Amino acid sequence: MDGDSKAAPREMTRREALAWLAQAGVAACALTCGRAHAEDGGRKKIGNLFEFPNGCAKDVEGAIVVRTDEGMAALARICTHKRHTLEVDDNTGSIFCSMHGSGFDLSGKPTNGPATRALKWYHVEVDESGAVWLDTSKSVARGAWAPLPKWAKPKE
Ligand code: FES
Repeated sequence: MDGDSKAAPREMTRREALAWLAQAGVAACALTCGRAHAEDGGRKKIGNLFEFPNGCAKDVEGAIVVRTDEGMAALARICTHKRHTLEVDDNTGSIFCSMHGSGFDLSGKPTNGPATRALKWYHVEVDESGAVWLDTSKSVARGAWAPLPKWAKPKE
């Protein structure tokens, strides 16, 4: 009887230990998966190409994502005049700063001041399925338009 009563708590402890190990395994897997996504360089799917009309800008995930005939670009949302957050006009898709009135074209060049410097560009890419991926942890050279998939390129 004593042996059984001692065995029962040990068996419970073992089960608890196994349950704990199982939970720890799930947690470790979640951590690993989280790191794997983070190690993608912060690359994040922000939508599909059809959600980005040609010739317009859209405020997405802290960047201004634009699509033109040249491809896609992701611009910093920070005004180059005094670092006010830029806005996108929902009707026209134009980029402007409400603080002092600067405007920017779809390549991030100022169209009217007081801002005189162009916006920083972030990494954006479009995969063959049309999924659009943004990585604001990486900047790219101004003018490095992300190519559109062949099926989405404008017809000549
Ligand atoms: S902060 Fe944008 S125009 Fe001055």
